[in-house]
Amino acid sequence: MIIREDCSLLGHNTFGIAAKARHLVEYQSIQELQDFIHGRAEQSDNSPLLHIGGGSNLLFLNDYEGTILHSLINDINIKEEDEETLVVSVGAGVVWDNWVDYSIVHGWTGLENLSLIPGEVGASAVQNIGAYGSEAKDFIKEVETVDLQTGELRMFTNAECQYAYRHSIFKSELRGRYAVTHVLYRLNRRFRPNLNYGALRSALAEKGINEEQLTPAILRRIIIDIRENKLPDPKVLGNAGSFFTNPIVERSTYERIARDYPSVPHYEVDTNHVKIPAGWMIEQCGWKGKALGPAAVYERQALVLVNLGGATGHDIEALCKAIQADVRKRFQIDIVPEVNFI
Ligand code: EPU
Repeated sequence: MIIREDCSLLGHNTFGIAAKARHLVEYQSIQELQDFIHGRAEQSDNSPLLHIGGGSNLLFLNDYEGTILHSLINDINIKEEDEETLVVSVGAGVVWDNWVDYSIVHGWTGLENLSLIPGEVGASAVQNIGAYGSEAKDFIKEVETVDLQTGELRMFTNAECQYAYRHSIFKSELRGRYAVTHVLYRLNRRFRPNLNYGALRSALAEKGINEEQLTPAILRRIIIDIRENKLPDPKVLGNAGSFFTNPIVERSTYERIARDYPSVPHYEVDTNHVKIPAGWMIEQCGWKGKALGPAAVYERQALVLVNLGGATGHDIEALCKAIQADVRKRFQIDIVPEVNFI
């Protein structure tokens, strides 16, 4: 167990906000996490606790006056396998994209479309990360957790996680209660590419690649190229990926907007609901590439807010509020941050 006091969080949030934590505790095994929890109980320590992953979805508004927990559990083990599929248990502290790469190198397929998403494996199961027509929930069989109050181990089946778009039970009812220790993914041996996302099909056509020529490694490369083209590298320009979720609205709301903007992009959700890309609305409001102090809207993808250098959490928050107000005024829609404000 690694314990630090008055620790800088600069290396623990991709926005590059210079906040500090009273304590940072990094554990290497389930036993170490349980020892930490039992130690707190013995000392009746009820100080605030926040579990983080790669810090790619966090905005620190202030220093954190409590303990930040971070998993360094990094083992990868096959749990079940047959001719068609296999179930692999992956430590919560493994960097997500290293896991995607590892799976493809070993000939296990499914995760290609989720290549290059920042963050760690534990957060994939909390956040239900998604991109290019795939979501983590499509591959998660079970989630192994530790109860942060009692130290007890508890498994959640996929259904118990209550997954939806960028959502799970760990973000709502059970927020802050469990730490993910391992995620069990079910992957395939046979490659069945998911090419449902429009931008992906056009990228393949542009490169002159047909489905027969496609391999998991080529698909991963294509996804990486698309992302590198549109999204800023947090090592170069601080950011947390999509800052807002795409709002799911009533069909009548979509029809109202489409009367004024006939080419509004949208995705069908169900008979009554449609998803409208928040990035499109932000761009329509004229925010793309604009800055407010040291916080800005990325010039190539308006859903991403960036730290131009030295921004505080409050600078980013001010930009967020100004954008929300303009989107509300123009479209009568409230866009909600995907990023967690701490
Ligand atoms: N659009 C604009 N202007 C912009 C950005 C987007 O008009 O500045 C339009 C695009 O033209 C397109 C539509 O909005 O018609 C969708 O854009 P894009 O494909 O870039 O995806 P997105 O909806 O903006 C979502 C995810 C991304 C994920 C992509 C691809 C959310 C909150 N974001 O973004 O996830 O990579 O789809 O699947 O659902 C992340 O969560 O950090 C993230 C990057």
